[in-house]
Amino acid sequence: MNIREEYIKFFESKGHRQIPSAPVVPENDPSVLFNTAGMQPLVPYLMGKPHPYGTRLCDYQKCVRTNDLDEVGDLTHHTFFEMLGNWSLGDYFKDDSIAWSFEFLTEVLNIPVEKLAVTVFEGNEDIEFDEDSYNKWLSLGIEKNKIAKTKDDNFWIAGSSGPCGPDTEIFYFRSDDEVPNVFDPDDDRWVEIWNNVFMQYYKDENGVVTELPCKNVDTGMGLERITAVLEGVNDNYLSSIWKDVIEVIEKITMKKYSGNEKSMRIIADHLRTAVFIAADPAGIKPSNTDQGYILRRLIRRAIRHAKSLDVDINSNWDVIIADKIIDKYKTYYKELADNRKVILEVLSFEKVKFNRTLEKGLREFSKAISNLDGGIINRDIAFKLYDTYGFPIELTEELAFEKGLKVDVAGFAIKFKEHQEKSRVGAEHKFKGGLSGNSEIETKYHTATHLLNAALKVVVDPGCHQKGSNITPERMRFDFSCDHKLTSEEKEAVESLVNKWISEDLKVTQEEMSKEEAINSGAECMFIERYPDIVTVYSIGDISRELCGGPHVERTGVLGHFRIKKEEASSAGVRRIKAILE
Ligand code: ALA
Repeated sequence: MNIREEYIKFFESKGHRQIPSAPVVPENDPSVLFNTAGMQPLVPYLMGKPHPYGTRLCDYQKCVRTNDLDEVGDLTHHTFFEMLGNWSLGDYFKDDSIAWSFEFLTEVLNIPVEKLAVTVFEGNEDIEFDEDSYNKWLSLGIEKNKIAKTKDDNFWIAGSSGPCGPDTEIFYFRSDDEVPNVFDPDDDRWVEIWNNVFMQYYKDENGVVTELPCKNVDTGMGLERITAVLEGVNDNYLSSIWKDVIEVIEKITMKKYSGNEKSMRIIADHLRTAVFIAADPAGIKPSNTDQGYILRRLIRRAIRHAKSLDVDINSNWDVIIADKIIDKYKTYYKELADNRKVILEVLSFEKVKFNRTLEKGLREFSKAISNLDGGIINRDIAFKLYDTYGFPIELTEELAFEKGLKVDVAGFAIKFKEHQEKSRVGAEHKFKGGLSGNSEIETKYHTATHLLNAALKVVVDPGCHQKGSNITPERMRFDFSCDHKLTSEEKEAVESLVNKWISEDLKVTQEEMSKEEAINSGAECMFIERYPDIVTVYSIGDISRELCGGPHVERTGVLGHFRIKKEEASSAGVRRIKAILE
């Protein structure tokens, strides 16, 4: 059975319209890194804005939750999952919502009623007991002792503020044991499969709760979990969602899943999430901040586990797994096929980068633990592993755990923060101080450097990149990657193109943006890691776009005449041009 399709068909038959899954990176909500629930992209509509598709919506939504990264590797935790959801925006309420969930579970999915139990909101000092839901479940044939009342677990909100309300959760008895007479929500054999939230309140940042303009319904059912339930497996990774990906990993590692579960689950889970993040229109690339850092950590942890299963990291093991994941999901998420090349590039760049230091880092780790006092890896070692060898902290923790050791994570966090602060101040200082005191002519040379950089790409090779530069009041010097000595025709063409752009008096503009945005917008830059999170991008007309601290002239017309004085070798594969403005 195709659960996604059955779900949508069922809710369409109840007057809902399917909405497309939103991207994993929220489009208008900087407060969260990723969409963690189906309702997140719908917040404005839950708050009262009319939705173009009407008042009854349904979908399957891509969600990323990485707060419990270290739990991935067990039977049921995933960093990415799909949430099946249906919504009423001020339309139907508890009665229909509960009736339809029950109908879908028992009549479409054919789950026996005896295997189901529910929780409802018990009430607190502010909001009363949810008697309507309680009575509805009784009327549908759920026995009294299969309905538990709770306070804390039956009030749902995403984070600490936003639309919220009491909920009723539906549980399934996932065990071969006999179903107990009384439902205990703390008994692990009962797993939550669906959550129906009755969103009629709004909680603000100060904790003040008010009524929303409409009474809404927000429901969510995890596709991975319901699939495992229907297929009768206790380990989600043995369900049809994962089975073939695990088989690919078994083939690559030439090892059986049984006995290697943890590493194989981590590889499968983390690469799937990395594939979805890399495919997102937000264009996330591995980095040391925000979504980029999550992406980096997921890929690095997958690499480390592949290595622990003796995979040759330099082989194309990751591409094979990613390809499998893309093929599996592309019918539902077209962006995976459209961005296949980008996804594979993200994985392989990060692999090459990490692989350069992984081996050395692991040696450093072994050395560090051989002369350790007290079984704790101190902040300095943890920080060195991060800073020099690119080990995210949870990777060090995991390595330590495997050796029965602990890591001073709190101490690491302090050092990490200090370091970030220092690099921020340093970068600001470098960009402001390093160039302040520039004379007018040096400012001109600075802008001429950008023109030269752009002209080389047009005349010589789009693959020419800046490798260094030095400016004095007398001349500019520019190093760039290039595999040959420039011919005199090339030199002349470069000169005349720069002079053409000068004569066009192009406008130089400056914008502030995040480093990520800058790279995605195609801005050129030499040492991306040396820049702060917020960078300045200078554009000259539409011929050049570079990350740069400035300063620059306002228009190219003031530069005068550009002349190349010398072109020579600098080092292997790098050429050097000395030029003047006259
Ligand atoms: N928004 C609710 C949840 O995520 C349905 O559980």
